[in-house]
Amino acid sequence: MRIQKFEVVESTNDLARKYILEGNKEPAAFVAEHQTRGKGRLGRVWEDEPGKSLLVSFALPGSTYSNPPLLGLATAVFVGEYLDLLPVPWETKWPNDVLIEGKKVAGILPEGIWQDGLVGVVVGVGLNVNQDEFPDDTEATSIKHAFGQALPVEQPLMYLIYRMEQVYEQIVDFTEILATFKDKFKSMGKKLRVRSNDQVWEGTAVDIEEDGSLILNMEGKLVTLGWGEVTLR
Ligand code: BTN
Repeated sequence: MRIQKFEVVESTNDLARKYILEGNKEPAAFVAEHQTRGKGRLGRVWEDEPGKSLLVSFALPGSTYSNPPLLGLATAVFVGEYLDLLPVPWETKWPNDVLIEGKKVAGILPEGIWQDGLVGVVVGVGLNVNQDEFPDDTEATSIKHAFGQALPVEQPLMYLIYRMEQVYEQIVDFTEILATFKDKFKSMGKKLRVRSNDQVWEGTAVDIEEDGSLILNMEGKLVTLGWGEVTLR
């Protein structure tokens, strides 16, 4: 895997997208200390405190990753596997957040790259490593806060590179990863409100399908959602 490090960029996801569109065939990781236009899900901005978090986007060229969201979900599990090494307890929030004690520690943004068909996938990861404080304390946390000690951001980076190389070599077992995601999805069986396609769906989370979709039971009627934003009801 090629690794390219930058001090300041607009968005590492954009660098990874450009790299794929230029026709590069080797997988690559774009890492920055700070982003001036970090992209979050649903068009949001991903803010960072310079040097305190891991900001990385993996560029996986090729047409084999037909399901970018599933790769996002797998990446949440990879982050969790790293947290297990410390260890720090974690949970998943569908579709691809990682939480510690109910607060978000990582955001993941998978993007399919299209040019007359799918030509690659970008998976962006924003992992809160060494922040001490957050503007809204109820929403976010950092590994340092949970673990009690600062860590070099290279540590989770190396672990994620190791796993992404396996993804590229197609030697990861997505069935097993999905089982871990479900096991760590503490909202399974609970009532949720999911915002998807400008609509709000309310029901009980009953399963996550093989392709990463969430199944909600809405008073006996099963609804399959490919993506969305979850809040507990
Ligand atoms: C979310 O909204 O939860 C997803 C946030 C993803 C942020 C990461 S930071 C590195 C990469 N570059 C970006 O512009 N976004 C992703």
